[in-house]
Amino acid sequence: MTNDDLNSLKLWFSDYTSSFFGADEGDNRNLRLKVEHTQNVCANIKEIAESLPLTSEKIILAETIALFHDIGRFSQYTKYKTFQDGKSINHGLLGAKILQEENLLSGLAAAERNLIFNSVKFHNVFQIPDLKDEELLLFQKLIRDADKLDILRVFINFYESPPEQRASATAFRLPDTPEYSKEILERIYKKQKVSYESLKTVNDFRLMNISWGYAMNFKASYRLLKEWDCLNRIARHLPATEDIAGAVALVRKFVEEQLP
Ligand SMILES: [Fe+2]
Repeated sequence: MTNDDLNSLKLWFSDYTSSFFGADEGDNRNLRLKVEHTQNVCANIKEIAESLPLTSEKIILAETIALFHDIGRFSQYTKYKTFQDGKSINHGLLGAKILQEENLLSGLAAAERNLIFNSVKFHNVFQIPDLKDEELLLFQKLIRDADKLDILRVFINFYESPPEQRASATAFRLPDTPEYSKEILERIYKKQKVSYESLKTVNDFRLMNISWGYAMNFKASYRLLKEWDCLNRIARHLPATEDIAGAVALVRKFVEEQLP
């Protein structure tokens, strides 16, 4: 893949996504959130990929995966008015289907095309599938880190902005009460992953955000997490209890240990 290939795919992305905007400002705000998310995930993946010993071709490929990872979001939202896969459709599978239907990648080598399809298809599964294909595994790790970092940015902005400026689709299906689940805290103490399904309150969601401090795959991702002060900016919105402070401190220490 060349930079020219990527630039023409970016033009397609911009035309395609523009076609979903309409008269409803609330809907437009939700769609704009995904366009911005895509731009940020592209910047994140580029930064992480450039920190690794990869050829410029692979870095372009990584950015293409970031460009398309959420391409399913636009028709998902337009049809179902939600970004919750559980209430609508799996947006990773939908994205891969759209890429196929649009016949967008036919100019690329078969190996690159397959890598992009599969990366989009699997980017949102809870656990990276047991992949024999080392290259696909590498791109899975890249897109997951780049995506998580920007999801953290989106939620930090959400927590920090006044309610009337918040995009409605970022809002939670969970109750925003002072409670939090001991089981989730327990998982953080044990360095285990937290699934969306186990969340009961918004505080649980924030704890899951904190747990992502364990989940990055590259040093550059940990560096960005620290540079943006993600853990502190989330922790500020959690109840000030001793057990939460302990869990946050543990994750913070882990992040520090990953950095040179
Ligand atoms: Fe996604």
